[in-house]
Amino acid sequence: MKTTTITKTLKSLVIAGAIIGSSTLLAADGAALYAKCAGCHGATGEKSALGKSKIIANMSAEEISSAINGYVSGSYGGAMKGLMKGQVSSLSKDGIKALSAHIATFKK
Ligand code: HEC
Repeated sequence: MKTTTITKTLKSLVIAGAIIGSSTLLAADGAALYAKCAGCHGATGEKSALGKSKIIANMSAEEISSAINGYVSGSYGGAMKGLMKGQVSSLSKDGIKALSAHIATFKK
C-alpha cells in the first residue's frame, strides 16, 4: 500500500520533471539559435533579409522547417540560397524544430 503510493508519487514527479525539462529546453534552444538570424531577419522576423527573403514572421512552423531543410539539401531557395545554406547547415534536427517553432511564435 505505502510502497505503491511512493512509487506513484515518484512516477508522476519523474514525468512532470521530463515535461518541464524538455519544454524549457526547447524554448531556450529556439530563442538562442535565433540570435544569429536576427541580424538579417529582424528581432521578430519582421524584415525581408537583405531585401531578398520573405517576411519569415508570416510563415508557419511547417513552412519554416521545410524551407530550412530545403536550404540544407539544396532543394529550396532563390538567388541567395547559398548564403542560407551556410546559416543552417550545422543545425541538428531538433535545432531546426525548436528554431521553427520559435519563429512561428512571432506570427501576429
Ligand atoms: C546574412 C543574412 C542572413 C542570416 C544571418 C540568416 N538569413 Fe535567412 N535568409 C536570408 C536571405 C537573403 C534569404 C533569401 C534566400 C534565397 O534567395 O532563397 C533568407 C531566407 C530565409 C528563409 C526562407 C524565406 C523565403 O524567402 O523563402 C528562412 C525560413 C530563413 N531565411 C531562416 C533563417 C534562419 C532560421 C536563420 C538563422 C539560423 C537565418 N535565416 C539567418 C538572409 C539571412
